[in-house]
Amino acid sequence: MNMTNSHLTQISRHSDDYVSINLGERSYNIWIHTFEESSWSDKVQLPLGTSALIVTNTVVGGLYLEKLVNRLKQFYPTVYSVTLPNGEEFKDSQTLNLIYDALLSNGCDRKSVLFALGGGVVGDMTGFAAATYMRGVQFVQVPTTLLAQVDSSVGGKTAINHPLGKNMIGAFHQPQLVVCDLSTLATLPLRELRSGLSEVLKYGPIADMEFMEWLEISVDQLLSLDPVALAHCVRRSCEIKASVVSQDERESGLRAILNFGHTFGHAIEAGMGYGVWLHGEGVAAGMVMAAELSRRLGMVDAAFVQRLTQLIERVGLPTKGPVLDAADNASRYLELMRVDKKSEAGEIRFVLIDGPGKAVLRTAPDALVREVIDICCA
Ligand code: NAD
Ligand code: GLY
Repeated sequence: MNMTNSHLTQISRHSDDYVSINLGERSYNIWIHTFEESSWSDKVQLPLGTSALIVTNTVVGGLYLEKLVNRLKQFYPTVYSVTLPNGEEFKDSQTLNLIYDALLSNGCDRKSVLFALGGGVVGDMTGFAAATYMRGVQFVQVPTTLLAQVDSSVGGKTAINHPLGKNMIGAFHQPQLVVCDLSTLATLPLRELRSGLSEVLKYGPIADMEFMEWLEISVDQLLSLDPVALAHCVRRSCEIKASVVSQDERESGLRAILNFGHTFGHAIEAGMGYGVWLHGEGVAAGMVMAAELSRRLGMVDAAFVQRLTQLIERVGLPTKGPVLDAADNASRYLELMRVDKKSEAGEIRFVLIDGPGKAVLRTAPDALVREVIDICCA
């Protein structure tokens, strides 16, 4: 399947404060803001509700829960919270039940509003709880990792993992609002910052080579949390994602390009055991593998693969995948990748680069994929 990315230049950019995602009655804004700003309440329109339930985890809750509770108390008659265990390995049905327990035991109704305070794990689980509680309630994303600010909080994909496959149980459910507070990144561990940058790097090869050039120049500033560089990085990433999702909310075509590196990456995450490799780490090695596969199919040259690999290296992310099975590594990768949501009738479909700045979704011969796995894993 060929997808044209040329219309990605038509971006909804209103002001320095927010990026819009245009989905008819499900449209919303992504604010790039801080909780501390006194203007928060004037500018950001929170959804009306009978109560608010903040979902967070043990790490983020300790840092930011009280601040958010104090903010929300000005808007909602009652503000509840639930604190989940921390980590990808808890992105499962058992942990999801803790959210339903909190909603039910506090008497939350259809007009209650959920707030996801945390990274992509909290965001994906809160979104799925909001999609399913009483057949759907409103929710707001308050992403506190770079990865969540540039990707997972935007676009309405919500999910939990299954032992046999990543994000396999889920729903499309758009938030009413996203509030990215860049100041929360100050407490983020460096490894997590790097992991978030992986999802930023993907936007260059799939949609915007000028952004890739900017990233090559700005990588050190981003790693040292320069606020101007971070603001541009989050804004441009959200603009590209908003543009893609506005055109293909439910991934019938174009949206799949956002999964560059993810087919290999999800196999790494599931194959290593959730939480061993971070999501962005799997995606980083996965992007090198997908770029190499693109090269072997004659779609990009070796210089492009090298350029992408060097940028990933400079961020401090892995450029080689792990060996998942010493006896037959390629077969293990292929087995895991067949469970990918983009697969059809057991056939794996990869997001490949068809010339820098343009992505396509297509199949590849198993023999070629095996070669790539063999040279790209260590
Ligand atoms: P995460 O949610 O596990 O957060 C990473 C770590 O950082 C956790 O330990 C967390 O507690 C901690 N943390 C979060 N904010 C912090 C802060 N401000 N200060 C200190 N520590 C903080 O992981 P993530 O990388 O944010 O998200 C990964 C998840 O996102 C994966 O499950 C992935 O599948 C999902 N994802 C979803 C989408 C989507 O479109 N829905 C897109 C990309 C990724
Ligand atoms: N992160 C991929 C998507 O939102 O479609």
